[in-house]
Amino acid sequence: MIQTITETTRELQPAPQPDADTALYANRVEKTYPNGTHALDEVRLGIQSGEFVSLLGPSGCGKSTLLRMYAGLDTPSAGRILWWGSEHLKGAGGDKHLSMVFQEATLMPWAKVRANTRLPLDLAGRPRAEADQRVDAALHMVGLDAFADSWPRELSGGMQMRVSLARALVTQPSLLLLDEPFGALDEFTRNKLDSDVRQLWSEQQMTVVFVTHSIYEAVFLSTRVVVMAARPGRVIADLPIEGPELRDDEWRVSSRFLKYCRELSDLLTAAASGSI
Ligand SMILES: Nc1ncnc2c1ncn2[C@@H]1O[C@H](COP(=O)(O)OP(=O)(O)OP(=O)(O)O)[C@@H](O)[C@H]1O
Ligand SMILES: [Mg+2]
Repeated sequence: MIQTITETTRELQPAPQPDADTALYANRVEKTYPNGTHALDEVRLGIQSGEFVSLLGPSGCGKSTLLRMYAGLDTPSAGRILWWGSEHLKGAGGDKHLSMVFQEATLMPWAKVRANTRLPLDLAGRPRAEADQRVDAALHMVGLDAFADSWPRELSGGMQMRVSLARALVTQPSLLLLDEPFGALDEFTRNKLDSDVRQLWSEQQMTVVFVTHSIYEAVFLSTRVVVMAARPGRVIADLPIEGPELRDDEWRVSSRFLKYCRELSDLLTAAASGSI
């Protein structure tokens, strides 16, 4: 089994030094929580502008911990993160900024879809007319034009996640971070939203980091899958996915898709058994 893995998976190389195209760079990032949990061990990972990278791994391997640090919501215990070459997210310069989507839609129940989507622009003090235009564009992107004046409670779980996605897109982020955004949805809805996210990524020229523990979702979406293992959380493999630009149902049943899934499944099994 391990032989198969080493035959098909590239050896895990140290992350190359960051260059002008590196959007995110984790350099020997460690995280130990105050209760002593060693959540991340020496993570080195560079993500280039325009990549769609999935972080794949079992529960507890530190995916959310790493994503929260990428979002600037938490800090490493050791090592550092660079955003477009800067040690400070705010210092990244130009119009570079990020948005994050969580597993729960986290909408304000007392506000209509339009106001929920506009929230980041209101917080940034953007003029109402400009903000409303951007909200219309974002709702259009996620296919919710007709629901701008609905209340969150009138929407299905999948539609609420679309609003959450629109709220993330409304600021036109250069970097979109998603933490198991569709994990709670049925498979059909999840597949549809995966297709939409992939299409948005190709249209909007964003860099995307997508956390999942679904092998199929990772292979469907990504240009690269980074595999993590637990205790302590670490990167064990980094697999470029060579697939068509347009990812559709054909891709899901192609032999290359299945080969990648098999390879990632073997890696996760080997990691769980402690042999990597
Ligand atoms: N605030 C915290 N305080 C203490 N330990 C934490 C905290 N947050 C996470 N952990 C621990 O750190 C480790 C990594 O957690 P994390 O949430 O990053 O994993 P994950 O890969 O996102 O898991 P899941 O797939 O279940 O979401 C786990 O052992 C978890 O219990
Ligand atoms: Mg998590």
